Amino acid sequence: MIITKKVLRNVSLTAHPKGCRRYVEDQIAWVEEHAKQSDNPHYPSTTGLHMPKRVLVLGGSTGYGLSSRIVAAFGHNSDTINVSFEREPSENKTATPGWYNTMAFENLAKRKGLKAFSVFGDAFSNQTKEAVARKIEQELGQIDLVIYSLASPLRNDPVTGQAYKSVLKPIGDAFTALSVDLESDIVKQATIEPATEEQVAETVKVMGGEDWSLWIDFLLQRNLLAHEAMTVAYSYIGPKITYPVYREGTIGKAKEHLENSAEELTNKLKAINGQAYVSVNKALVTRASAVIPVVPLYMALLYQVMKEKGLHEHCTQQIYRLFTTMLFSGNAVPTDNDGRVRVDDWEMRSDIQAEVERRWALQQEGKSLVQGDLGGVWEEYEQIHGFGFGDIDYSKDIDPRIV
Ligand code: NAI
Repeated sequence: MIITKKVLRNVSLTAHPKGCRRYVEDQIAWVEEHAKQSDNPHYPSTTGLHMPKRVLVLGGSTGYGLSSRIVAAFGHNSDTINVSFEREPSENKTATPGWYNTMAFENLAKRKGLKAFSVFGDAFSNQTKEAVARKIEQELGQIDLVIYSLASPLRNDPVTGQAYKSVLKPIGDAFTALSVDLESDIVKQATIEPATEEQVAETVKVMGGEDWSLWIDFLLQRNLLAHEAMTVAYSYIGPKITYPVYREGTIGKAKEHLENSAEELTNKLKAINGQAYVSVNKALVTRASAVIPVVPLYMALLYQVMKEKGLHEHCTQQIYRLFTTMLFSGNAVPTDNDGRVRVDDWEMRSDIQAEVERRWALQQEGKSLVQGDLGGVWEEYEQIHGFGFGDIDYSKDIDPRIV
Protein backbone atom coordinates (compact mmCIF):
# COMPACT_ATOMS: atom_id res chain seq x y z
CA MET A 1 0.00 0.00 0.00
CA ILE A 2 1.10 3.59 -0.54
CA ILE A 3 1.06 5.21 2.88
CA THR A 4 0.17 8.88 2.91
CA LYS A 5 -0.31 11.12 5.89
CA LYS A 6 -3.88 11.75 6.95
CA VAL A 7 -4.49 14.26 9.71
CA LEU A 8 -7.88 15.10 11.16
CA ARG A 9 -8.15 17.86 13.82
CA ASN A 10 -4.47 17.55 14.76
CA VAL A 11 -4.77 13.75 15.06
CA SER A 12 -2.77 11.68 12.60
CA LEU A 13 -4.62 8.62 11.35
CA THR A 14 -1.67 6.94 9.65
CA ALA A 15 1.97 6.21 10.37
CA HIS A 16 4.84 5.19 8.12
CA PRO A 17 6.89 2.14 9.16
CA LYS A 18 10.13 3.20 7.50
CA GLY A 19 9.81 6.76 8.79
CA CYS A 20 9.10 5.57 12.33
CA ARG A 21 12.19 3.41 12.15
CA ARG A 22 14.18 6.40 10.94
CA TYR A 23 12.81 8.51 13.82
CA VAL A 24 13.94 5.89 16.34
CA GLU A 25 17.34 5.42 14.65
CA ASP A 26 18.00 9.16 14.69
CA GLN A 27 17.29 9.39 18.41
CA ILE A 28 19.45 6.37 19.13
CA ALA A 29 22.33 7.82 17.11
CA TRP A 30 22.14 11.10 19.06
CA VAL A 31 22.12 9.28 22.41
CA GLU A 32 24.97 6.92 21.50
CA GLU A 33 27.12 9.76 20.27
CA HIS A 34 26.74 11.74 23.52
CA ALA A 35 26.85 8.74 25.83
CA LYS A 36 30.24 7.70 24.50
CA GLN A 37 31.94 11.05 24.67
CA SER A 38 30.71 14.59 25.10
CA ASP A 39 32.19 18.00 25.88
CA ASN A 40 28.75 19.49 26.43
CA PRO A 41 28.04 19.83 30.18
CA HIS A 42 24.28 19.79 29.50
CA TYR A 43 24.52 16.40 27.80
CA PRO A 44 27.51 14.70 29.43
CA SER A 45 28.84 11.25 28.63
CA THR A 46 27.22 8.49 30.68
CA THR A 47 30.56 6.89 31.48
CA GLY A 48 30.88 6.59 35.23
CA LEU A 49 27.24 7.46 35.96
CA HIS A 50 25.15 5.07 38.04
CA MET A 51 22.16 4.80 35.79
CA PRO A 52 19.50 2.13 36.31
CA LYS A 53 20.07 -1.16 34.52
CA ARG A 54 16.53 -2.56 34.46
CA VAL A 55 13.88 -0.10 33.39
CA LEU A 56 10.10 -0.38 33.08
CA VAL A 57 8.48 2.34 30.96
CA LEU A 58 4.72 2.71 31.17
CA GLY A 59 3.85 4.48 27.93
CA GLY A 60 7.22 3.80 26.33
CA SER A 61 6.25 3.70 22.66
CA THR A 62 6.09 7.38 21.73
CA GLY A 63 6.97 10.83 23.07
CA TYR A 64 8.69 11.17 26.43
CA GLY A 65 8.30 7.48 27.29
CA LEU A 66 10.01 6.29 24.11
CA SER A 67 12.83 8.76 24.72
CA SER A 68 13.21 7.45 28.28
CA ARG A 69 13.55 3.95 26.90
CA ILE A 70 16.07 5.03 24.28
CA VAL A 71 18.20 6.98 26.75
CA ALA A 72 18.23 4.05 29.20
CA ALA A 73 19.03 1.39 26.60
CA PHE A 74 21.37 3.20 24.27
CA GLY A 75 22.82 5.59 26.81
CA HIS A 76 23.60 2.96 29.42
CA ASN A 77 22.94 -0.54 28.01
CA SER A 78 19.85 -0.98 30.17
CA ASP A 79 17.32 -3.74 29.70
CA THR A 80 13.83 -2.37 29.20
CA ILE A 81 10.19 -3.35 29.26
CA ASN A 82 7.62 -1.12 27.60
CA VAL A 83 3.87 -1.09 28.25
CA SER A 84 1.77 0.65 25.64
CA PHE A 85 -1.54 0.58 23.87
CA GLU A 86 -1.18 -0.12 20.16
CA ARG A 87 -3.02 -1.02 17.01
CA GLU A 88 -1.18 -3.67 15.02
CA PRO A 89 -0.91 -3.31 11.24
CA SER A 90 -2.86 -5.32 8.70
CA GLU A 91 -2.39 -5.76 4.97
CA ASN A 92 -4.15 -2.48 4.20
CA LYS A 93 -4.06 -0.54 7.47
CA THR A 94 -1.08 1.00 9.17
CA ALA A 95 -0.20 0.35 12.80
CA THR A 96 0.07 3.08 15.41
CA PRO A 97 3.43 4.88 15.35
CA GLY A 98 4.08 3.38 18.78
CA TRP A 99 3.91 -0.13 17.34
CA TYR A 100 6.38 0.70 14.56
CA ASN A 101 8.67 2.56 16.98
CA THR A 102 8.62 -0.38 19.35
CA MET A 103 9.46 -2.92 16.66
CA ALA A 104 12.33 -0.76 15.42
CA PHE A 105 13.62 -0.09 18.95
CA GLU A 106 13.47 -3.72 20.04
CA ASN A 107 15.23 -4.99 16.89
CA LEU A 108 18.07 -2.55 17.42
CA ALA A 109 18.28 -3.14 21.18
CA LYS A 110 18.39 -6.92 20.73
CA ARG A 111 21.06 -6.54 18.07
CA LYS A 112 23.09 -4.76 20.73
CA GLY A 113 22.59 -7.69 23.10
CA LEU A 114 20.08 -5.88 25.31
CA LYS A 115 16.87 -7.33 26.65
CA ALA A 116 13.89 -5.42 25.31
CA PHE A 117 10.28 -6.53 25.67
CA SER A 118 6.83 -5.05 25.40
CA VAL A 119 3.47 -5.78 26.87
CA PHE A 120 0.87 -4.29 24.53
CA GLY A 121 -2.33 -3.69 26.42
CA ASP A 122 -4.23 -1.34 28.69
CA ALA A 123 -1.79 -0.19 31.38
CA PHE A 124 -4.71 0.61 33.69
CA SER A 125 -5.90 -3.00 33.78
CA ASN A 126 -4.97 -5.72 36.27
CA GLN A 127 -4.27 -8.18 33.44
CA THR A 128 -1.55 -5.94 32.04
CA LYS A 129 -0.01 -5.50 35.48
CA GLU A 130 0.03 -9.31 35.88
CA ALA A 131 1.57 -9.79 32.42
CA VAL A 132 4.28 -7.25 33.25
CA ALA A 133 4.99 -8.99 36.58
CA ARG A 134 5.49 -12.29 34.74
CA LYS A 135 7.82 -10.64 32.23
CA ILE A 136 9.91 -9.06 35.00
CA GLU A 137 10.12 -12.35 36.91
CA GLN A 138 11.12 -14.30 33.80
CA GLU A 139 13.51 -11.83 32.24
CA LEU A 140 14.82 -9.16 34.58
CA GLY A 141 14.23 -10.32 38.15
CA GLN A 142 13.56 -6.83 39.47
CA ILE A 143 13.27 -3.25 38.24
CA ASP A 144 15.51 -0.30 39.15
CA LEU A 145 13.51 2.47 37.48
CA VAL A 146 9.82 2.80 36.66
CA ILE A 147 8.92 5.64 34.28
CA TYR A 148 5.26 6.64 34.28
CA SER A 149 4.59 8.36 30.93
CA LEU A 150 1.00 7.53 30.04
CA ALA A 151 -1.16 10.05 28.19
CA SER A 152 -4.60 8.63 27.72
CA PRO A 153 -8.09 9.87 26.92
CA LEU A 154 -9.78 7.20 29.02
CA ARG A 155 -9.38 4.70 31.82
CA ASN A 156 -11.45 1.77 32.96
CA ASP A 157 -11.26 1.40 36.72
CA PRO A 158 -9.70 -2.04 37.30
CA VAL A 159 -11.91 -2.76 40.33
CA THR A 160 -15.33 -1.36 39.40
CA GLY A 161 -14.96 -1.52 35.62
CA GLN A 162 -16.33 2.02 35.38
CA ALA A 163 -15.05 4.01 32.40
CA TYR A 164 -13.61 7.50 32.96
CA LYS A 165 -12.80 10.05 30.25
CA SER A 166 -10.23 12.80 30.45
CA VAL A 167 -11.02 16.16 28.88
CA LEU A 168 -8.91 19.24 28.22
CA LYS A 169 -11.13 22.05 29.45
CA PRO A 170 -10.98 25.12 31.66
CA ILE A 171 -12.63 25.08 35.07
CA GLY A 172 -15.23 27.69 36.04
CA ASP A 173 -15.43 29.97 32.99
CA ALA A 174 -15.21 29.40 29.27
CA PHE A 175 -11.78 30.28 27.90
CA THR A 176 -11.31 32.18 24.65
CA ALA A 177 -7.87 32.55 23.18
CA LEU A 178 -5.98 32.51 19.94
CA SER A 179 -5.16 29.14 18.50
CA VAL A 180 -3.77 27.64 15.32
CA ASP A 181 -4.23 24.38 13.47
CA LEU A 182 -1.07 22.51 12.67
CA GLU A 183 -2.02 22.25 9.01
CA SER A 184 -2.96 25.85 8.27
CA ASP A 185 -0.94 28.73 9.60
CA ILE A 186 -4.02 30.91 10.11
CA VAL A 187 -4.54 32.16 13.64
CA LYS A 188 -8.09 31.90 14.87
CA GLN A 189 -10.08 32.45 18.00
CA ALA A 190 -10.96 29.31 19.94
CA THR A 191 -13.44 29.09 22.77
CA ILE A 192 -13.44 26.15 25.11
CA GLU A 193 -16.43 25.64 27.34
CA PRO A 194 -15.76 24.91 31.02
CA ALA A 195 -15.75 21.38 32.36
CA THR A 196 -18.46 20.05 34.61
CA GLU A 197 -17.45 18.92 38.10
CA GLU A 198 -17.82 15.37 36.93
CA GLN A 199 -15.43 15.93 34.03
CA VAL A 200 -12.84 17.39 36.40
CA ALA A 201 -13.11 14.34 38.65
CA GLU A 202 -12.93 11.97 35.68
CA THR A 203 -9.83 13.66 34.25
CA VAL A 204 -8.12 13.29 37.63
CA LYS A 205 -9.08 9.59 37.62
CA VAL A 206 -7.45 9.12 34.21
CA MET A 207 -4.40 11.38 34.31
CA GLY A 208 -3.83 11.80 38.07
CA GLY A 209 -1.65 9.66 40.27
CA GLU A 210 -4.07 6.87 41.18
CA ASP A 211 -2.86 4.41 38.58
CA TRP A 212 0.79 5.34 39.16
CA SER A 213 0.27 4.47 42.84
CA LEU A 214 -1.46 1.21 41.91
CA TRP A 215 1.52 0.23 39.78
CA ILE A 216 4.03 0.97 42.53
CA ASP A 217 1.91 -0.79 45.19
CA PHE A 218 1.61 -3.79 42.93
CA LEU A 219 5.33 -3.99 42.10
CA LEU A 220 6.25 -3.54 45.79
CA GLN A 221 3.86 -6.27 46.89
CA ARG A 222 5.36 -8.66 44.35
CA ASN A 223 8.88 -7.75 45.42
CA LEU A 224 9.66 -6.64 41.88
CA LEU A 225 11.35 -3.37 42.78
CA ALA A 226 15.07 -3.53 43.51
CA HIS A 227 16.73 -1.92 46.51
CA GLU A 228 16.91 1.86 45.93
CA ALA A 229 14.52 1.68 42.98
CA MET A 230 13.24 4.99 41.65
CA THR A 231 10.00 5.93 39.94
CA VAL A 232 9.45 9.08 37.90
CA ALA A 233 6.21 10.45 36.43
CA TYR A 234 6.08 13.30 33.91
CA SER A 235 4.16 16.50 34.39
CA TYR A 236 3.75 19.94 32.83
CA ILE A 237 3.18 23.45 34.15
CA GLY A 238 3.78 25.90 31.30
CA PRO A 239 3.22 29.65 31.05
CA LYS A 240 0.38 31.82 32.32
CA ILE A 241 -1.05 32.14 28.78
CA THR A 242 -2.01 28.46 28.80
CA TYR A 243 -3.00 28.28 32.50
CA PRO A 244 -6.78 28.40 31.90
CA VAL A 245 -6.70 25.39 29.57
CA TYR A 246 -3.75 23.59 31.13
CA ARG A 247 -2.48 24.19 34.64
CA GLU A 248 -5.72 25.65 36.01
CA GLY A 249 -7.88 23.41 33.84
CA THR A 250 -8.93 19.80 34.16
CA ILE A 251 -5.52 18.40 33.19
CA GLY A 252 -3.82 20.69 35.70
CA LYS A 253 -5.98 19.24 38.47
CA ALA A 254 -4.89 15.77 37.37
CA LYS A 255 -1.23 16.83 37.31
CA GLU A 256 -1.59 18.29 40.83
CA HIS A 257 -2.90 14.93 41.96
CA LEU A 258 -0.02 13.16 40.22
CA GLU A 259 2.49 15.48 41.87
CA ASN A 260 0.95 14.94 45.32
CA SER A 261 1.16 11.19 44.78
CA ALA A 262 4.95 11.39 44.53
CA GLU A 263 5.25 12.20 48.23
CA GLU A 264 3.00 9.31 49.24
CA LEU A 265 4.93 6.96 46.98
CA THR A 266 8.26 8.06 48.39
CA ASN A 267 6.95 7.14 51.85
CA LYS A 268 5.96 3.69 50.62
CA LEU A 269 9.27 3.23 48.84
CA LYS A 270 11.21 3.92 52.05
CA ALA A 271 10.93 0.19 52.71
CA ILE A 272 13.42 -0.39 49.89
CA ASN A 273 15.21 2.93 50.23
CA GLY A 274 13.55 4.03 47.01
CA GLN A 275 12.27 7.38 45.79
CA ALA A 276 9.43 8.78 43.67
CA TYR A 277 9.79 11.97 41.66
CA VAL A 278 7.74 14.04 39.30
CA SER A 279 9.71 15.63 36.51
CA VAL A 280 8.19 18.71 34.91
CA ASN A 281 9.14 18.55 31.24
CA LYS A 282 9.14 21.04 28.40
CA ALA A 283 6.19 21.54 26.02
CA LEU A 284 6.94 19.40 22.98
CA VAL A 285 5.01 18.10 20.03
CA THR A 286 3.75 14.64 20.80
CA ARG A 287 0.60 12.77 19.91
CA ALA A 288 -0.85 13.89 23.24
CA SER A 289 0.11 17.57 23.24
CA ALA A 290 -0.91 18.38 19.65
CA VAL A 291 -4.59 18.08 20.52
CA ILE A 292 -4.55 20.55 23.42
CA PRO A 293 -6.23 23.78 22.22
CA VAL A 294 -3.97 26.87 22.27
CA VAL A 295 -0.88 24.73 22.88
CA PRO A 296 0.25 24.41 19.21
CA LEU A 297 0.29 28.22 18.92
CA TYR A 298 2.29 28.50 22.12
CA MET A 299 4.67 25.79 20.91
CA ALA A 300 5.20 27.53 17.56
CA LEU A 301 6.29 30.71 19.34
CA LEU A 302 8.29 28.85 21.98
CA TYR A 303 10.15 26.76 19.39
CA GLN A 304 11.15 29.84 17.43
CA VAL A 305 12.37 31.72 20.51
CA MET A 306 14.24 28.71 21.92
CA LYS A 307 15.81 27.93 18.55
CA GLU A 308 17.01 31.52 18.21
CA LYS A 309 18.66 31.24 21.63
CA GLY A 310 20.12 27.78 20.88
CA LEU A 311 18.03 26.18 23.64
CA HIS A 312 15.50 24.09 21.73
CA GLU A 313 15.41 20.43 22.73
CA HIS A 314 13.48 17.38 21.55
CA CYS A 315 12.06 14.70 23.87
CA THR A 316 15.28 12.71 23.78
CA GLN A 317 17.49 15.65 24.64
CA GLN A 318 15.14 16.55 27.51
CA ILE A 319 15.26 13.05 28.93
CA TYR A 320 18.99 12.71 28.38
CA ARG A 321 19.57 15.94 30.34
CA LEU A 322 17.10 14.79 33.01
CA PHE A 323 18.83 11.45 33.50
CA THR A 324 22.46 12.49 33.22
CA THR A 325 22.47 15.88 34.96
CA MET A 326 19.55 15.62 37.39
CA LEU A 327 18.42 12.12 38.36
CA PHE A 328 21.61 10.06 38.06
CA SER A 329 24.41 12.63 38.11
CA GLY A 330 25.72 11.29 41.41
CA ASN A 331 24.75 14.55 43.20
CA ALA A 332 21.56 15.19 45.16
CA VAL A 333 18.59 15.37 42.79
CA PRO A 334 17.75 19.08 42.32
CA THR A 335 14.11 19.92 42.99
CA ASP A 336 11.92 23.01 43.32
CA ASN A 337 10.13 23.95 46.57
CA ASP A 338 7.42 21.42 45.81
CA GLY A 339 9.88 18.57 45.36
CA ARG A 340 9.57 18.49 41.56
CA VAL A 341 12.49 18.05 39.18
CA ARG A 342 12.46 20.87 36.61
CA VAL A 343 13.74 20.00 33.18
CA ASP A 344 11.39 22.70 31.88
CA ASP A 345 13.95 25.14 33.34
CA TRP A 346 14.97 26.54 29.95
CA GLU A 347 11.39 26.86 28.70
CA MET A 348 10.41 28.78 31.84
CA ARG A 349 13.38 31.17 31.83
CA SER A 350 12.06 34.70 32.21
CA ASP A 351 13.75 35.95 29.01
CA ILE A 352 12.21 33.11 26.98
CA GLN A 353 8.75 33.65 28.43
CA ALA A 354 8.89 37.44 28.02
CA GLU A 355 9.76 37.03 24.34
CA VAL A 356 6.99 34.45 23.79
CA GLU A 357 4.50 36.85 25.40
CA ARG A 358 5.68 39.73 23.22
CA ARG A 359 5.18 37.62 20.11
CA TRP A 360 1.83 36.30 21.31
CA ALA A 361 0.57 39.90 21.39
CA LEU A 362 1.47 40.30 17.70
CA GLN A 363 -0.87 37.53 16.52
CA GLN A 364 -4.09 38.55 14.78
CA GLU A 365 -7.18 36.53 14.14
CA GLY A 366 -7.56 35.49 10.49
CA LYS A 367 -3.93 36.29 9.68
CA SER A 368 -0.90 34.03 9.29
CA LEU A 369 1.12 33.28 12.37
CA VAL A 370 4.01 35.72 12.68
CA GLN A 371 7.46 35.30 14.26
CA GLY A 372 6.77 31.68 15.15
CA ASP A 373 8.00 28.33 13.96
CA LEU A 374 4.84 26.52 12.96
CA GLY A 375 6.90 24.83 10.24
CA GLY A 376 9.17 23.35 12.90
CA VAL A 377 6.22 22.19 15.00
CA TRP A 378 4.57 20.66 11.95
CA GLU A 379 7.81 18.98 10.87
CA GLU A 380 8.18 17.35 14.29
CA TYR A 381 4.55 16.30 14.25
CA GLU A 382 5.03 14.65 10.86
CA GLN A 383 8.21 12.93 11.99
CA ILE A 384 6.68 11.38 15.10
CA HIS A 385 4.35 9.60 12.67
CA GLY A 386 7.18 8.65 10.31
CA PHE A 387 6.52 11.32 7.65
CA GLY A 388 8.57 14.23 6.38
CA PHE A 389 11.97 12.53 6.12
CA GLY A 390 13.64 13.80 2.94
CA ASP A 391 15.31 10.56 1.96
CA ILE A 392 12.27 8.29 2.29
CA ASP A 393 10.27 7.68 -0.89
CA TYR A 394 6.69 8.01 0.30
CA SER A 395 5.27 7.16 -3.13
CA LYS A 396 6.62 3.61 -2.89
CA ASP A 397 4.19 0.74 -2.43
CA ILE A 398 5.14 -0.99 0.83
CA ASP A 399 3.79 -3.64 3.18
CA PRO A 400 2.55 -1.84 6.35
CA ARG A 401 3.29 -4.98 8.38
CA ILE A 402 7.04 -4.75 7.83
CA VAL A 403 9.09 -2.20 9.77
P1 NAI B 1 2.42 10.37 23.94
O1 NAI B 1 1.03 10.38 23.44
O2 NAI B 1 3.53 10.54 22.96
O3 NAI B 1 2.71 8.98 24.74
C1 NAI B 1 1.76 8.36 25.52
C2 NAI B 1 2.12 6.91 25.74
O4 NAI B 1 1.11 6.32 26.57
C3 NAI B 1 2.16 6.05 24.46
O5 NAI B 1 3.19 5.11 24.56
C4 NAI B 1 0.81 5.33 24.49
O6 NAI B 1 0.80 4.08 23.81
C5 NAI B 1 0.67 5.11 25.99
N1 NAI B 1 -0.70 4.85 26.42
C6 NAI B 1 -1.78 5.67 26.34
N2 NAI B 1 -2.86 5.07 26.89
C7 NAI B 1 -2.45 3.85 27.32
C8 NAI B 1 -3.10 2.76 27.99
N3 NAI B 1 -4.37 2.80 28.33
N4 NAI B 1 -2.37 1.66 28.25
C9 NAI B 1 -1.06 1.59 27.90
N5 NAI B 1 -0.40 2.60 27.29
C10 NAI B 1 -1.09 3.71 27.01
O7 NAI B 1 2.46 11.45 25.09
P2 NAI B 1 3.60 12.34 25.78
O8 NAI B 1 3.38 13.75 25.38
O9 NAI B 1 4.93 11.74 25.65
O10 NAI B 1 3.10 12.27 27.29
C11 NAI B 1 3.67 11.43 28.27
C12 NAI B 1 3.60 12.12 29.62
O11 NAI B 1 4.43 13.30 29.56
C13 NAI B 1 2.19 12.60 29.97
O12 NAI B 1 1.98 12.43 31.34
C14 NAI B 1 2.25 14.08 29.63
O13 NAI B 1 1.33 14.84 30.37
C15 NAI B 1 3.68 14.40 30.03
N6 NAI B 1 4.22 15.64 29.45
C16 NAI B 1 4.09 15.91 28.12
C17 NAI B 1 4.53 17.13 27.63
C18 NAI B 1 4.39 17.48 26.19
O14 NAI B 1 4.47 18.65 25.86
N7 NAI B 1 4.23 16.54 25.30
C19 NAI B 1 5.19 18.13 28.49
C20 NAI B 1 5.37 17.67 29.85
C21 NAI B 1 4.87 16.49 30.31
